Amino acid sequence: MKLNSKIKTIGVLTSGGDAPGMNAAIRAVVRAAVYYGKTPVGIYRGYEGLIDGEFETMNARSVSNIIQRGGTILKTARSKRFKTEQGMQTAFENLKKKKIDALVVIGGDGSFRGANEFSKKFDLPIIGLPGTIDNDLSGTDFTIGFDTATNTVMHAVDSIRDTSNSHNRLFFIEVMGRDSGFIAMRTAIAAGVESVLVPERETTIDELIKKLEEGAAKRKTSSMVIVAEGGRSGNAVEIAERVKKEVAQYDTKVTVLGHIQRGGSPSCLDRELASRLGVAAVEGLLQGRKNEMVGVINGAIAYSLFEEIVDTPKTVNFDLLRVNDILSV
Ligand code: F6P
Repeated sequence: MKLNSKIKTIGVLTSGGDAPGMNAAIRAVVRAAVYYGKTPVGIYRGYEGLIDGEFETMNARSVSNIIQRGGTILKTARSKRFKTEQGMQTAFENLKKKKIDALVVIGGDGSFRGANEFSKKFDLPIIGLPGTIDNDLSGTDFTIGFDTATNTVMHAVDSIRDTSNSHNRLFFIEVMGRDSGFIAMRTAIAAGVESVLVPERETTIDELIKKLEEGAAKRKTSSMVIVAEGGRSGNAVEIAERVKKEVAQYDTKVTVLGHIQRGGSPSCLDRELASRLGVAAVEGLLQGRKNEMVGVINGAIAYSLFEEIVDTPKTVNFDLLRVNDILSV
C-alpha cells in the first residue's frame, strides 16, 4: 500500500449522539495507526475537546478491553462553538500545537458538516466514520450502532408484546431516529407489529384506525404500533390521544423507549463494521484521502465525499413497509 509519509500523528474523536460500537471504532483507529507506525491521539468530548485542547496520546494498550463496551471512552458532545469562526480557529491552533496532521471523526451528518468546513478551511485531512444509531447516512448500508439499537428495540417490543397480549391492549411504542424511520421500519418487521409510522411516509389517523379496526374484526386480541419520533402525525403520546378520542374502547398505552436505544454492548455486526471502518479510515488517510466518509456498500469498503453525504438523503427502502403490511394481515 502506498503510504503518505507526511502524516505522523492521527487524532480521533467521537461527536454527536453516542452509538454502540464507537469504542470498537476508536480501538480500530488507534491500533491501525500504531500498526502503520503513526502516533494516535484521542481527543475528548468531540469538537468541544478540540477547542479546549483535551488531548491524550494513545498506544495499542490504551484501547484494550473496550471493544465490547457501549458508549464512547472519548466522551462526546454536540458543539455549538465549533460552528463559529473563533471555535474553528482555536481548534486548529490546538491541533498544530499537538502536531496532529490528520483527523478521524466518528459521528453523524452534523459532525461531518463541521468536518467538511474545517477540513477545507485549514487544509487538514479528515476521514469520517458513520457513527449513529439512526442509520440516516448515505454512503453506507449501515451506520455503527444501528444494528445494536434495533436489536435493543426488538427485545423491548418482544417484552411489551407479552403484557400487551395478556391485557388485550393497544400499545404505541416510540422509537428514535430523529427525522428518519430506519430504526422504526426495521424493528417493525423484526418484532412483527401491526403498523409502523415513519417520517418518510404520511399515515393519517383515519388510515391507522381503519387498520386497527380491521385487525380487531379478524379477532386480533392486542396490537402494537411503532412510531418513529420524527413522524408527521405527531409523537406516540399525541397519536395515542387522538386514537383514543375516536375509538374509546381501546385500552391504549404508550411506551417511549428513549435512550436505552443508545446504550448497551455492541452487536457482532457493529463490532465488525466499526473495526473494518476504523482500519479503512487510517489506510484512507495514509493513501492521501481527505474530506471523505468511509462506509460499507454491498459488503465492500466505500469512500464518499462529505459534501455528497451531507447533501444526499439516504434512500429509504419502502418495500419494508409493504412487507410489514403483508405480514400484519
Ligand atoms: O442521533 C441519535 C439520536 O439518538 C436520535 O435518534 C435522537 O433524536 C437524538 O439523538 C437524541 O439526542 P439527545 O441524546 O441529545 O437527546
